[in-house]
Amino acid sequence: VTKGDTFRVSIANSDLSFETNSKDTILGSLLRSGIGAPYECNSGGCGSCKFKLIEGSIREDYETCPGLRPSDRRKNKHLACTCRAESDCVIELQLDSSYAPKIRPSIKALKFISRTPLTHDLWTFRFQSEEPANFLSGQYSRMHIPGVSGARSYSMSNTPNDAGIWEFQIKRVPSGKATAVLFESNLAELSITIDAPYSVAHLDANSPRSIICIAGGSGLAPMVSILRGVAELQDRADQPILYYGARSQRDVVDPDYFLSVPGFDPGTQYIPIVSEPSADCVGPSGFVHEYLAQALPDDCSQMDFYIAGPPPMVEAVRRHLILDRKIPVDQLHYDRFF
Ligand code: FES
Repeated sequence: VTKGDTFRVSIANSDLSFETNSKDTILGSLLRSGIGAPYECNSGGCGSCKFKLIEGSIREDYETCPGLRPSDRRKNKHLACTCRAESDCVIELQLDSSYAPKIRPSIKALKFISRTPLTHDLWTFRFQSEEPANFLSGQYSRMHIPGVSGARSYSMSNTPNDAGIWEFQIKRVPSGKATAVLFESNLAELSITIDAPYSVAHLDANSPRSIICIAGGSGLAPMVSILRGVAELQDRADQPILYYGARSQRDVVDPDYFLSVPGFDPGTQYIPIVSEPSADCVGPSGFVHEYLAQALPDDCSQMDFYIAGPPPMVEAVRRHLILDRKIPVDQLHYDRFF
């Protein structure tokens, strides 16, 4: 993180404190110091990182955030992912060691390698850092792009490696400033950096349960990383299934792409579901959660579910699994991006 003025943030009702600086978010500094507290989107959308300011002063990145209600502001509550300290502070927040990072996030400069279309608006981007690409399958980066204010969260679609390769699948956002640069500019001339890795919705390599991946849109990236991560595990004979929700046939990623995942048979393990099918569509159609309702076996108790995609899809799938199928929440792994 570019160094600004340095401050200390103390967590009320604990003996924990951490150093931050005026250029870093409170959440970034908290995780960099190894402390765990709930978060998901890292961009002001989900509200999981809410804290109360007891003493000191902070600066908000945005005037309003979907994750913060006006009543929160009246109670001096803020989002750790979208504010920065301007003095030493005392804050009250819920600590949770399960969010303590296994790999502490840090900033890395990236060199552009390539971009390749997967569909008409979902492309694979490859970059390289000088240091090893150190992350867990399913995690995401916060990307800083010159000329674009704020960072964008993109999940890696490869697995950790010493060569420093970072691969992302990025969906072009209509009128989106960041994706306009990524899809159109000469990236070799731009100084792109990432702050990574983030997310606790990563592959749990110790779980003995079978793996179901459910993705929509660019939520495919972390699922591909998880499929590749499973393939790299020794002594496992998993046959994970990937359900992929796409709006129309042209949004469906070609099954041949998955031949790049070792041991993965797209013919039996990849199931695209089209929500707005054309008349000649032959495969499954409808919403992903509706399809899962009839496609999953009655007994899903020995399955781990990894879910990534647009929040309405993630929410509908989550509700189906928890409410209709009574799957314990610790068998569900997801981040909601807004
Ligand atoms: Fe901060 Fe989502 S609002 S993590």
